[in-house]
Amino acid sequence: MASGANMAIEQTAKTIGAAGTPDGVVEVMDGVHWIGALDPDLRSFDVILKTANGTSYNSYAVRGSEGVAVIDTVKQEFNDVFFERLEQVADYSEITALVLNHLEPDHTGAVPELLRRAPQAHIYVSHRGIKVLRALLKDDFEKYQCTMTDTGDKVSLGDRTLSFLCTPYVHWPDTQCTYLEESELLFTCDLLGCHFCDDRLFNDRVGDFRFAFEYYFDHIMRPFRRFVVEALDLIEPLEITMIAPSHGPILRSHPRQYLQHYRQLVKPKLQSEIDGEEKTLLIFYVSAYGATAQMAKAIYEGASSIPNVRASVYDLQGSEITPFVDLIEEADGLVFGTPTINGDAVKLVWDLLSGLIDIEMRGKLGAAFGSYGWTGEAVRMVEDRMRGLKMRVPEQGVRIKLHPTDEELQTCRDFGESLSRHLTGAGVAKEIDFSALG
Ligand code: FEO
Repeated sequence: MASGANMAIEQTAKTIGAAGTPDGVVEVMDGVHWIGALDPDLRSFDVILKTANGTSYNSYAVRGSEGVAVIDTVKQEFNDVFFERLEQVADYSEITALVLNHLEPDHTGAVPELLRRAPQAHIYVSHRGIKVLRALLKDDFEKYQCTMTDTGDKVSLGDRTLSFLCTPYVHWPDTQCTYLEESELLFTCDLLGCHFCDDRLFNDRVGDFRFAFEYYFDHIMRPFRRFVVEALDLIEPLEITMIAPSHGPILRSHPRQYLQHYRQLVKPKLQSEIDGEEKTLLIFYVSAYGATAQMAKAIYEGASSIPNVRASVYDLQGSEITPFVDLIEEADGLVFGTPTINGDAVKLVWDLLSGLIDIEMRGKLGAAFGSYGWTGEAVRMVEDRMRGLKMRVPEQGVRIKLHPTDEELQTCRDFGESLSRHLTGAGVAKEIDFSALG
């Protein structure tokens, strides 16, 4: 059995089926075969991700002296090739374990049919994954044996042992990793993966995929940074010869470097220079005729007057979105100012708000304000969006018809002060006028 990085690297990828390329099965390590699918023509994944190099759905078969384990499967449209490859390395009757590290459809497309062909296979899935598995298998769920896994649980294949690591929220609640102990091989599913299809399969043979690795982290893992840190804490103490994700290259050369790379990526893009006691409040606005800009300035003045709050104000018309997303990731509170135009907030504000899906927003303070001419719906719409991002919106936003009077500017200053007090934990209890809601 292979163990040690050098031995693994020296192995030439042995293919069964078409010679020289993974048209067939690839032995990634003694008794471990890649039985996945290549999707080189994919140009968009889950609608939101660009995939210039396509992707792969990596599935693996692990042979032990007393059974075969299948680790994850493929997207349903690739079922035929998956079963062709699986049949080259195992009989269905030999499959004793089906390990589901993550139940998103790109990894579970072949699961129902695989279970029909190998009904004796025992399913191993995380506690959070069981609900999705029920939904996937529907009435057939009861036909199969299933065990919910915790960190440290093990499955014996005779002379080989699979152990599980509970690594939730990287990036779905159900995610786990599986470790083939004797071979020091870690199956990570999406974690440490990327959308980069290259039929040479291994990181020391494929083209340069660094951009794809970071792009994947930024768009899939970044909103879950704190969970990635917890996953790394579990993984790093392991002896690791190879990391086998379920997208992109198999990391057999210097696998630990990819863990170190993740450690770098989980750090904020912009390191905060704010003291531990100080809170940050960012005010973004767009102004058509200067009225919303006046409000922004007054809110900024009020917010800045409270000790231990560092407020900043930005005109969205003067920047690209990306630098603001990086700023927002580390901010404690956000205030958005928008006029109402044609019954809506303006596009620049929506662009920024839609760009926030790549960072964690839960629990940040949010507020909105804006000038309007007729109906003024924009402020409420922005507040709803912030609530949708799981932000807390403790104050009803300020709406002012046309240009603000001195008295209305004072209302804006008071609003800014109040927001800062919420940030410092000294929020002012207010009576809510329910007739004004809605
Ligand atoms: Fe590759 Fe989250 O699925």
